[in-house]
Amino acid sequence: MTTAHQSSNVTWHQGEVTRENKDARNKHKGAVLWFTGLSGSGKSTLSHAVEHKLFQMGVHTTVLDGDNVRHGLCGDLGFSDVARRENIRRVGEVSKLFVDAGVIVLTAFISPFREDRQVVRKLHQEGDFIEVYCAASLEACETRDVKGLYERARKGEIKDFTGISSPYEAPEQAEVVVDTGSLELEACVEKVMMYLQNKGVIKA
Ligand code: ADX
Repeated sequence: MTTAHQSSNVTWHQGEVTRENKDARNKHKGAVLWFTGLSGSGKSTLSHAVEHKLFQMGVHTTVLDGDNVRHGLCGDLGFSDVARRENIRRVGEVSKLFVDAGVIVLTAFISPFREDRQVVRKLHQEGDFIEVYCAASLEACETRDVKGLYERARKGEIKDFTGISSPYEAPEQAEVVVDTGSLELEACVEKVMMYLQNKGVIKA
């Protein structure tokens, strides 16, 4: 798999409608809320709950979810380190397109590698990339085992499973850390919403 730049003879076209124009009309900023954490740590649940709250406030939103995106855009990718890197690279680029459109995009991917998340962070303008660490422990995720995948991974039926046979590198300086292993969903949502209000991404 190659991620090298292959396009030649292409010129960037700058449109007249700026991010500022879009943010001003939307009455909120574009941003990416990048949820990261183990499988079953609550990324999808939390991102959808935050989206629901934002939507009710009239904010333009969308959710990109690992399990869903892997049905289409990333349906050709497995779970090797290289494939995960490509998965995150593509989603990072897509998230940039949404942010440029003035949307608050919520992404729910394990995104286990610090370096890959850092690449996406750098892709975005300062302040647009908000890393949200869903900090449920492996023990908590495995006990819940909502999809039954941990049990299968322990039996060796699924290889390269995050937390069991493939690493998860926790963020060291996430903008928001939510203890999705013990906090109620509503409290987790509130923590994310407070961050967005304090940073002026949305109005209170
Ligand atoms: S990532 O590592 O590339 O970011 P992503 O979030 O897209 O992963 O997909 C993770 C989801 O795929 C998990 O929630 C789980 O449902 C499923 N899955 C299937 N195989 C694996 C595996 N080997 N490791 C982790 N998740 C897996």
